[in-house]
Amino acid sequence: MSQKKRQLHLGLFLFSTGYHPAGWRLPEARTDGAFDAKFLHSVAQTLERAKFDFFFLGDALASSADMQYQFPSQMVRLEPFTMIANIAAVTEKIGLIVTVNTTYAEPYHVARQTASLDHLSSGRTAWNVVTGADARAAHNFSREKHWDNEKRYDYANEFVDVVKRLWDSWEDEAFVRNKETGVFVDGSKVHALRHVGEQFSVAGPLNVARPPQGQIPLLSAGTSERSQELGARFSNVIFTGQIVIDEAKRFYAGIKAKTFQYGRTPDDLFIMPGLVPLVGRTEAEARAKYRELSALLVTDFNLQPLSARIGLDLSGYPLDGPLPDLGLSSRPDDARKFVRLAQDASGHEDITVRELFHYFAATARGHLLIVGDPEQIADKIELWFKEEAADGFNICPPYMPGGLDLFAEHVVPVLQRRGLFRTEYEGNTFRDHFGLTRPANRFAEERELQTK
Ligand SMILES: Cc1cc2nc3c(=O)[nH]c(=O)nc-3n(C[C@H](O)[C@H](O)[C@H](O)COP(=O)(O)O)c2cc1C
Repeated sequence: MSQKKRQLHLGLFLFSTGYHPAGWRLPEARTDGAFDAKFLHSVAQTLERAKFDFFFLGDALASSADMQYQFPSQMVRLEPFTMIANIAAVTEKIGLIVTVNTTYAEPYHVARQTASLDHLSSGRTAWNVVTGADARAAHNFSREKHWDNEKRYDYANEFVDVVKRLWDSWEDEAFVRNKETGVFVDGSKVHALRHVGEQFSVAGPLNVARPPQGQIPLLSAGTSERSQELGARFSNVIFTGQIVIDEAKRFYAGIKAKTFQYGRTPDDLFIMPGLVPLVGRTEAEARAKYRELSALLVTDFNLQPLSARIGLDLSGYPLDGPLPDLGLSSRPDDARKFVRLAQDASGHEDITVRELFHYFAATARGHLLIVGDPEQIADKIELWFKEEAADGFNICPPYMPGGLDLFAEHVVPVLQRRGLFRTEYEGNTFRDHFGLTRPANRFAEERELQTK
């Protein structure tokens, strides 16, 4: 690792109704922000004031009303490019991440869209490469079945490789625009791809000038081995869901070590787990908010998924009774770690089956939920950062906008005071925020090598 001082990174993982399934039911929460441009602008501006690295919007290509009690904000949302282009127009610094599912897309389209957005945002764009978490998407794209993991990642690898080369179609100096001679472009600096591969045939060149960042930073977030390989090969940031620090450290070290196989170094790649901070001005206030949210969950207390999670059948145990002996679990260590998190959130050891269920329901998407005052939340962030379990966090406010406002106004200043987080942006582009240099154009480099 280089001796450059590590700096914490913070992004927003937007759930317009909050990450907590009942977040939207709080009296102070917005319920209809997903389609309100003014609301989205104010969120982005809050992030800029707090010097966040980025605003991230996930995406899915299928929906249904039965998601409402678990994932209300995932049912309906704006199309990412449309929304992010709109946000780019009212912000200046914040990095902007669009999610594109390669399984249902074409590289030429995606190269064009991302490059366009990078121009419109003056170099603030990044692309979250996903291969699709929702198999139902197949039926919206004239296919019978969602491809299996192998096929999706074979496709994604070639897809990303083609997009990256398309971005380099036009060298930075290709545009002469000489009014006297009438020469607009130097044709020797424009490059066709003539790509013919297993999955794609793409002639090129792209019909958009090279993006301001040269190469647009990539992110990925899968859990499978193939996804980790794709991340180690191409990504600048990896999102992940981690709730236990020791496992997060193993994941962190494992992915960073893989970068060498692809001629990269661990400094090229940042690991950012999700974090759900339930912040109160005091610990008591945070705990009260957690209880309020738990009481608002709409649920039939189906204990089966929770039983599977902790390896112990909870059916037959009274909801308001104590937890059974965890030694009975088929995975007692795992169960203890999960129960510890629920105890931490509830603020006491003797939690009931109902309280464990509340924690499980609140974290169904796999991200770490912590409850506390600003110092307590900052302590956890600092610990994970210093122990190399994370390079930063993808912040998922439990409700909106209050959950984000409290974090931005009360936790960020603590992190800044501790010297962990920036007080001013270092530059203007997504690359600048992560200290990533702008890569040379591969075709220009090849030409220079040939003429030497
Ligand atoms: C923090 C995080 C965010 C994700 N966001 C999305 C998303 O917006 N859209 C999506 O299709 N998949 C998303 N995923 C899922 C993965 O990117 C991946 O496409 C999916 O898990 C299938 O790949 P896998 O088999 O490698 O896990 C996300 C995963 C994580 C951990």
